[in-house]
Amino acid sequence: MKFFVDTANIDDIAELAATGLIDGVTTNPSLVAKAGRPFTEVIKEICDLVEGPVSAEVVATDYDGMISEGRKLAAIAENVAVKLPLTWDGLKACKTLTGEGTMVNVTLCFSANQALLAAKAGATFISPFIGRLDDINLDGMELISDIRQIYDNYLFDTEILAASIRTANHVKESALAGADVATMPPNVIKSLAAHPLTDKGLATFLADAEKAGIKV
Ligand code: G3P
Repeated sequence: MKFFVDTANIDDIAELAATGLIDGVTTNPSLVAKAGRPFTEVIKEICDLVEGPVSAEVVATDYDGMISEGRKLAAIAENVAVKLPLTWDGLKACKTLTGEGTMVNVTLCFSANQALLAAKAGATFISPFIGRLDDINLDGMELISDIRQIYDNYLFDTEILAASIRTANHVKESALAGADVATMPPNVIKSLAAHPLTDKGLATFLADAEKAGIKV
């Protein structure tokens, strides 16, 4: 499973990239707005920090605008994945941009039929939003499983990028369901390694080593 970090915060990305465990970054207009810096400048800096795909979202909603903005974003760096919303204009733009060799991440996916359309449009990634479905008492993880089954039925190459992840359990369940990628906020990534029994066991090992005067 690939791990992408879902943020536009340069310091958080740099810290996690240094672990060697980050395979890409996803941003969206809300996350970029939080960064409080010029959009293309932030995306360029992120692309220099992380070799893997960096999702940068258009703000146009019409086909021509999406193509124009998508080409500008793709020109920032070769690892830019242009993020397009799951609308008819977004799907049409996806077909065009992927046809030009640009990576496309189709976002704001909330149904299996939407994901089916994105795969037919040649999307590189599809981003089903787990947390936002859970927020309205629907089953976000069921969507991941449904998409996995549909994509496997027809051998679609589009990668399932589990998004809107809020907890470590979302990551585990997404991995069990066969998502190709999980994108998550920095705090969720950091929580994956945490376990009280690990901390307790390490403390015991270190105390015993000190008592015995063990030196390496
Ligand atoms: O960036 C796409 C997605 O991960 C947003 O997550 O928590 O705003 O639903 P969230």
